[in-house]
Amino acid sequence: MSESASPLVVICRRLMPAGTILLREAGVRLRQGGLDVDAAELQALVFGAEAIIADPTVPVDAALLDAAGPGLRVVANFAVGYDNVDLKASRDRGVAVTNTPDVLTNATAELALELTLAAARRTTEAEAALRDGHWRGWDPGAMLGLELSGACIGIIGLGRIGTRYAELVRPLAAEIVYTARSAKPGAEVRLGARRVPLEELLESSDVVSLHAPASADTEHLIARAELDRMRDHAVLVNTARGSLVDTTALINALAAGKIGAAGLDVYEQEPDVPHGLLHAPRCVLRPHIGSATHTARDAMAALAARNALVALTGEEPPNRVA
Ligand code: DGY
Repeated sequence: MSESASPLVVICRRLMPAGTILLREAGVRLRQGGLDVDAAELQALVFGAEAIIADPTVPVDAALLDAAGPGLRVVANFAVGYDNVDLKASRDRGVAVTNTPDVLTNATAELALELTLAAARRTTEAEAALRDGHWRGWDPGAMLGLELSGACIGIIGLGRIGTRYAELVRPLAAEIVYTARSAKPGAEVRLGARRVPLEELLESSDVVSLHAPASADTEHLIARAELDRMRDHAVLVNTARGSLVDTTALINALAAGKIGAAGLDVYEQEPDVPHGLLHAPRCVLRPHIGSATHTARDAMAALAARNALVALTGEEPPNRVA
């Protein structure tokens, strides 16, 4: 990029060096916020930007787009999910929006597997009891959990991450059932996965793992009625977005023993985790670390930077979602 062009790229919070190096090498001007940047600071930060690099904690709404001004060409989200970006407002202003698919698939599916095992086998609860000095030795009836061997695994959303999760659990499970907007014949043949209606999935699965994107259609996809349908030993896993689950209904279902356990990486109002969830029985919690591996985050940063740079040249960015 020539010196005279030298567009301004604003990194709202933080980007790994794998991304900033690419941006610096391309000769763009860089302005960077920080992890604690608030809405007012963000608006000042983005003024004059031609590209914004956002992440799931940054609400990219009409106000932020307008604060950037008419020169803004692209919002490169440093995440596969882009529910933090107002797509309509972006389209209305002619601003492209991109995400970072594929490169975090393994990391996120692996965390879903970790949560599945931790919730099914109550490992965090067991370790806490040990650390707190409550372990009195081997007890035939203590910390009994769910065995995945022979289990039916229900996957809601058989996209990239859901499919990778299916591959990881396949050697353990007896059966995989799934819901998705369209049938996935490849996964059906390769993994023996069977597409079923949501009600059937909830009623027949020992584990229900969520891999659908956040949208108006998936908001509270799992609420009281759905939790009531689940088996009383079933494990609910959510590494997708907090909005998919009605948290109050989940807290009540865990307290009443309507489901066996939950493993969560995402929450409705991050970073707030409701008190009821923190103290819910048989509930394993992680702080939105699905993509938190060196490999994934470096690749995500590089992809976000590449998307921004390509859009700035006027070409179609590789991962455009709007
Ligand atoms: C994503 O990319 O959407 C993840 O939630 C970030 O870890």
